[in-house]
This record gives sequence, C-alpha cells and structure tokens, in this order.
Amino acid sequence: MAPSTKTFDPFDPAFLRDPYPAYSVLRDSDPVHFHPADPDHDRPEFWALSRYADIVAAVREPESFSSAHGLTFYADEIAALGLAPTLVMMDPPEHSLKRRLVASGFSPRRVAQTEDTIRSFARERLAELAERARSGETVDIHSLYSATIPTFVLGFLLGIPAADRPRLDPWVSALTTIQDNGFAFGGLGTSAVSAVAEMFEYFGELIASRREDIDAGREVPDDLITGLLRAEYDGEQLSDWDVLGFCFVIVAGGNDTTGNLISHTIAQLTEHPEQRAEVAANPGLITGALMECLRRESSVQALARTTTRELSISGVRIPEGSKVMMYYGSGNRDEREFGPDAAELNIHREFTSHLAFSQGPHFCIGSHFAKLQARVALEELYAAFPAISADVGGARRIESPFTRGFRNLPAYDFAATASSTAAG
Ligand code: HEM
Repeated sequence: MAPSTKTFDPFDPAFLRDPYPAYSVLRDSDPVHFHPADPDHDRPEFWALSRYADIVAAVREPESFSSAHGLTFYADEIAALGLAPTLVMMDPPEHSLKRRLVASGFSPRRVAQTEDTIRSFARERLAELAERARSGETVDIHSLYSATIPTFVLGFLLGIPAADRPRLDPWVSALTTIQDNGFAFGGLGTSAVSAVAEMFEYFGELIASRREDIDAGREVPDDLITGLLRAEYDGEQLSDWDVLGFCFVIVAGGNDTTGNLISHTIAQLTEHPEQRAEVAANPGLITGALMECLRRESSVQALARTTTRELSISGVRIPEGSKVMMYYGSGNRDEREFGPDAAELNIHREFTSHLAFSQGPHFCIGSHFAKLQARVALEELYAAFPAISADVGGARRIESPFTRGFRNLPAYDFAATASSTAAG
C-alpha cells in the first residue's frame, strides 16, 4: 500500500528531525509519490521522487523537467522574491550559454587561490574557540566556526571591501530564515525581506560601478565580479542582471550548504569516534570522509522541477505542469545504488557519483569551492583538536523541507591531543 501523507509530511517537525525512515518507506513502496494539497495550511500538491535512478534520469532531462518555474513546490516563489533571473532557475539553451560564461569567470584557478586565505581565517577562528572553551563557555561550533567560513570566503571572493563584509551576515541569515520558512513569503518578517532587498541594492551598485571602471579602462581588482563581467563566450557576455542573479545564487546557495557540510561532518564523526580518530591521524582521508558525510546527510535534501509535458515514471502518470520534488537526500541513501549498508557511515566507501550536488546541467558549479572550504576547515579543526566532539542530540536543526542543517551545534573537547576527553 502507498504511504499515507501521515508517513510522509514534509512539514512535520518529526520528519524534519529525521527524514530517513520516511524516505525508506517511499523508496520501497511508493517511489513516485503523489502528495495532495493541504489548502488549510496553504500547501500545494506535488510529486516526490525518492529513488536514485529516477532522480538522475529526471534531472538529466531538462526538456521534460524544467527549472524555470522555481525549485520548490510553491508556484510563485520567483515573483515573490523579485529575483533577478538566476542560473539555477533557467532551462537550456539559455542556461547552457549562461553557465559557460559563469564557469569561465568562476574558474578553478580563482577558487584555488583562496586556499591560503581560508586556512588563515580558520586558524584565527579556532584560536578564538579554544579561548572561549578555556573560559568555560559552551562553544557553538556551527555558528562560531562552520558557518563563518563560507561567508568570509565569499566576501573575499566577491571582492567585498573588508569594511562591508560584516554586512553579509544579516543577508545570509535572512536567506536562511526564508528557507526555514519553506519559501512561504507571506509569513516572513519585514526584516528578512528588507535584508534581501538591501543585498540586491548593494550588489547592484557594486556591479554597476565595477562595469563603469572596466568600460573606462580603469584598473580594477581581479575578483569574481570582475571575472564575471569580463567573461566572454562566442561573442556573448553576461549582463549586469545576470551577474546580480549569480551573486544571489551563490550567497543563497553556497553559504548554508557549505557551513552545514562542515557541521554535518563534525556531527557524524562524533557519532563514529573510530572513524574520527582515523581522519585526525591521517588528514589524507578528509576528502573521502567529506563526500561520505555529504552523501549521508545532504545539505540540500530536495528541490523541484516542473513537468513540461505529461509523462510516466515506473507506470505512474504525471500530468504536465506538475511540481516534482527530487529527494536528493533519499536518493543518496538508496540501497539500490549504494548497497545494503547505504545508511551507514563508511569514510572508506567507494562511489563515483551521488546527488548532493545534483547531476546533469544544473550540477553545482560551486562544488569544488565547497569541497575546498570544507577540506581546509576540517584539516585545521582536527589538527588543532583531534578529539573534538559535538552534542548532536542537543543541537537545534533548521526546519526546512528543502535543506538540512543546524542552527547551532554545541561542541566540547577542545584539547590539543586525542587522548584527552576533558572539556575545555
Ligand atoms: C556543500 C555545499 C553545496 C551543496 C550541497 C550544493 C548543492 C547544490 C545543488 C543540489 C545544486 C543543484 C540545484 C538543482 O538541482 O536545481 C546546486 C547548484 C548550484 N550551486 Fe551549489 N551547493 C553547494 C555549494 C555551492 C557553492 C559554495 C557555490 C558557489 C559559491 C554554489 C553555487 C551553485 C550554483 C551557481 C548552482 C547553479 C548551477 C546551475 O544551475 O547551473 N554551490 N548546488
């Protein structure tokens, strides 16, 4: 029998705390699930794909599964934000051209150049955490470490003057609030909306003045904004709107996701101290451990596509114009793809692909950047505090049907040697 909406309710706090049992039921007994609307709570109907193979096939077929109508199950999210057209919400052929342009401005070389900056920032943060722990404070490693790294690095990469960088924090937290709210803008406080408006204004002015400097032949900093404004492919360039849209996507999509990857790794290695000891003793294992932790606890749990025609998956008919959620977080635990122990953490697991960065045309363009930041953050963390642990049960999680992560994550054991277990 197909699972009832009771088994699977994407707004139920119990589901949001631990969605994995419900995913498992969906994968086994209702992999192409129809979720009815809940008009009492203003929640629309949608379909849910939970198996790895079905999700891969769908995201690789943008002609039938469009991104241009938004990425949640809400109908009007793009209009509600007053968004500039963003890469992640475009379909081919426009998407293909814009993506090539963005990729040439956001090159691996530019990303690699940030490594030393990330490392020294991480060291500074860790020294501060040790100090706080020594003075008896319960250290929230999520907000004081994991979440600070992507925000800092993004400010650096985008060339935001140092004096303006603290302004990024309220914008990032406004975007987090919007996500926590399930993109239901109606219930949002004005502060979140005005923080987003302020962010658009700030980037809009930064981009316009940089464009003026470039056009006038003045010397400009070699940052990502300059890279994007100068990017050229087949005689085409990105417009100021495109660059603004891209800034929005990377602030909205690259911050929390990366911070949560760092915290999810700390949390999962706390629960598997023998694997943490291996990682602390051999930093070469960190890259593999990160991918396994991201697979098992994916920062992006689910995003939508909209069908452009009537189609059928495993014999189930889905009408044209339907919202279909891709449950990346479920696909990443699909035993059909990752074997019977898919739910277990194994930092030595060998796999070539997963869904945490999606696949196909919208595959995360910042994945290398995210991996670089998380690797450096964890190399520094375990070098400084090899036995660091988190109070995973005492953490507060974000409550979003689309993303997974923490609001806070209390941590302890800031000793410099692995053998000590004393707090502080
Ligand atoms: C662990 C961290 C991250 C995760 C889990 C993640 C996840 C994702 C996912 C799942 C998508 C596909 C969206 C879809 O299916 O519609 C995506 C796209 C994207 N991500 Fe990431 N992301 C991360 C970090 C970053 C970073 C650091 C940046 C940039 C600074 C970034 C920029 C983008 C952009 C621009 C796209 C749109 C690509 C396109 O549509 O062609 N992401 N990301």
